[in-house]
Amino acid sequence: GCGKKEEAAAPAAAPAAAAPAADKLKIAFMYVSPIGDGGWTFQHDLGRKAIQEKFGDKVETSFVESVPESADAERVLRDMAAQGNRLIFATSFGYQEFVQKAAADLKDVKFEHATGYKLADNVATYDTKTFEGAYLAGIVAGGMSKTKTVGVVASVPIPEVVRNINSFVLGAQSVDPSIKAKVVWVNEWFSPPKEAEAATSLINGGVDVMYQNTNSPAVLKTAEERGARAFGKDGDMSAFAPKAHLGSAVIDWAPYYTKVVGDTLAGQWQSGSFWWGVKEGAIDLLKIADDVPQDIKDRVAKARAGLKDGSFAVWTGPIKDNAGKELLAAGQVADLKFLAGINFYVAGVEGKVPG
Ligand code: GUN
Repeated sequence: GCGKKEEAAAPAAAPAAAAPAADKLKIAFMYVSPIGDGGWTFQHDLGRKAIQEKFGDKVETSFVESVPESADAERVLRDMAAQGNRLIFATSFGYQEFVQKAAADLKDVKFEHATGYKLADNVATYDTKTFEGAYLAGIVAGGMSKTKTVGVVASVPIPEVVRNINSFVLGAQSVDPSIKAKVVWVNEWFSPPKEAEAATSLINGGVDVMYQNTNSPAVLKTAEERGARAFGKDGDMSAFAPKAHLGSAVIDWAPYYTKVVGDTLAGQWQSGSFWWGVKEGAIDLLKIADDVPQDIKDRVAKARAGLKDGSFAVWTGPIKDNAGKELLAAGQVADLKFLAGINFYVAGVEGKVPG
């Protein structure tokens, strides 16, 4: 990238100016898809705008979009640091090794890695409990599917995504235990043509309600064309498919970004892992469609309230995998370790987790 031009030296007699630009905290965001994806990256960029708005001229934010999860990512991170950024948000799982490498050299930069698990003195990780949004969407799916077969267009086979697929299915089965599910993997976060193709194959296979863990509204748009139903994910995708849209599981990154920037400005940035959910206002199912029956909306409201006050956890037994093995006994609530290591499909999901 190109650096900013140096300001000409001020004349000696000039009055003391306002704080020089160097006093601003420069903050950069690295995105895996375009900010126009309408989902994951769009929503991170809303978070960036929220901190720019909140902290005004104390901060200067910038972003680089469509950065692949490859050595390109490390180059972008080093370039961001060279341009004076001292707080860098890397917003996709596959950046993990590149964040670790860059951070090992760039000790005066704080790194925030979304969805990863590797920490360092200058690397924190953070995520949203997207599985709680998936569960709430699943309740709606369970109430709306006529074929009793729901589907998920899946992205990259990491535990987070497998957990989301299962959570969606658990939500659907909480309404109707006979619900079955199919999954198609596209092995990318953002590929609207592949996402659409996967959605088409699910519909052709008898699925009438879909969820996705990819970044674009392609699944929803395909549902709109084919007379199926689907959800927005990460962002509010209602505008992309007014007839098909059943609700959007929307992430709000602003509270976390505001906290991190506030801490950094106060000299109190700390490494750690943060995982905020419905309780912290980081995710919710919004804009539930008008034709969803009231009793289903009530079930969503009840689950949401339970997640808020801690009286309900999505991963509460009995839960069996799709080979019939009991993984959580009746009443047993999954701990963080269990949640982080989900690498199976729950009963009712067809097939096997790849890898
Ligand atoms: N989209 C791009 N990267 C990610 C990621 O790491 N997690 C999720 N949920 N969505 C993504």
